[in-house]
Amino acid sequence: MSDIRSRYTDSLHFFGKHSPAELVEKWGFPLYVYNENVLRARCRELKALSSHAGYMVNYSVKANANPVLLGIIREEGLVVDAMSPGELYLDRMAGFAPSEILYIANNISQQEMRHALDAGLLISVDSLSQLETLGRINKGGRVMVRFNPGIGAGHHQKVITAGKETKFGVTPDLLDDVLAICRAHDMQLAGINHHIGSLFMEADGYIAAAEVLLHLAERLPAAVLHGMSVIDFGGGFGIPYHKYENQPRLDMDDLGRKLHALISGWAEKTGYTGRFLVEPGRYVVAECGIILSPVNNVKYNGDTCYVGTDVGFNVLARPAMYDSFHDVEIYAGPAGASHREDKEQTIVGNICESGDILAKKRLLPAMHEGDILGILDAGAYGFSMSSSYTQRCRCAEVLIAADGQARLIRRRETPEDLARCYAV
Ligand code: LLP
Repeated sequence: MSDIRSRYTDSLHFFGKHSPAELVEKWGFPLYVYNENVLRARCRELKALSSHAGYMVNYSVKANANPVLLGIIREEGLVVDAMSPGELYLDRMAGFAPSEILYIANNISQQEMRHALDAGLLISVDSLSQLETLGRINKGGRVMVRFNPGIGAGHHQKVITAGKETKFGVTPDLLDDVLAICRAHDMQLAGINHHIGSLFMEADGYIAAAEVLLHLAERLPAAVLHGMSVIDFGGGFGIPYHKYENQPRLDMDDLGRKLHALISGWAEKTGYTGRFLVEPGRYVVAECGIILSPVNNVKYNGDTCYVGTDVGFNVLARPAMYDSFHDVEIYAGPAGASHREDKEQTIVGNICESGDILAKKRLLPAMHEGDILGILDAGAYGFSMSSSYTQRCRCAEVLIAADGQARLIRRRETPEDLARCYAV
């Protein structure tokens, strides 16, 4: 069996000592496969962006919350966020201490605030009324406030998280109100944060937004500024999804130079001695994850060649939700690798909706039943956004460890798992 389109994973020895076919045979499909070396390399690149003493990378767990991956991320010296009790639970399971977890809240209940406070976390709130609510239950405590810098960015309208058209953050004109509410409840403003959106491929927008947040910090009374311990610029670091078109990577040297100059210069100017955080999710985990699944069916409807797989939007929501592009590799099945001319094909899943499209009209080598597909860059917002729609069980997850050996890091769900919560 030779592979038809596998140059990218071959160059990384992504599957270690195994072939995609072996992995699928052993653990079934669809299967999320992660590569430890790739994950560690991304963590190290992010850590190297600045050598400023207070600089830290706060991994945004919403991208992928598997506790084994979180454990590796922790070993690499990153800290984490949480935005739900579930994420907090998994962060703790992976060994993060409360001081290493930032609770980034959006429209949460008082009960959830209490839960995070009881766990000993610093909470970031993103409205005056949430600040009031927290103040009432956390008198004399610490708080972080998320601002909306007015600059938004992102790969799709649905992931732009700043600017007037979004629900996020406190606008900077309300800074005095923030300070008044903190004073009224004797709360210390321990930090400020923002997140402008997801997937930028050039440094400048991110740096410009960071400058806006720092200008806002300069408007704080000196005692407040010097008491602060966290300034968090959010995530959004993009990855090149078009692997086979050699899409350029985000220039991390350029970003690092600009970020380092900005934070070290600003700290020197203001005397701020706290932390500066970046909060990437996608950049940390996207490229370490691939979904493997066989081709079940090839058919024509009119002129369109449909390649049917088990990778519905229950397995990978991004293409159906945002029209996102994921590159595809093809590993030959029983039909072998010969006579594979390129042709336009649309890869679809097994869900009962016409929007269940994984890859639209792609010019790829002709696929046959039994070939195994690799859906690239699925490590971020892949498993974490997967569902059991149509009561399909969520996938298994496998890790290719640094020594090339594969091991199961989440078993495949069973119908019994699906049934467990019903009160019949
Ligand atoms: N911090 C905050 C407060 C966030 O809301 C997010 C993502 C991040 C950090 C991490 O952003 P990243 O570095 O991963 O871009 N499901 C979408 C992405 C949604 C991101 C939401 N917030 C996707 O699949 O593209």
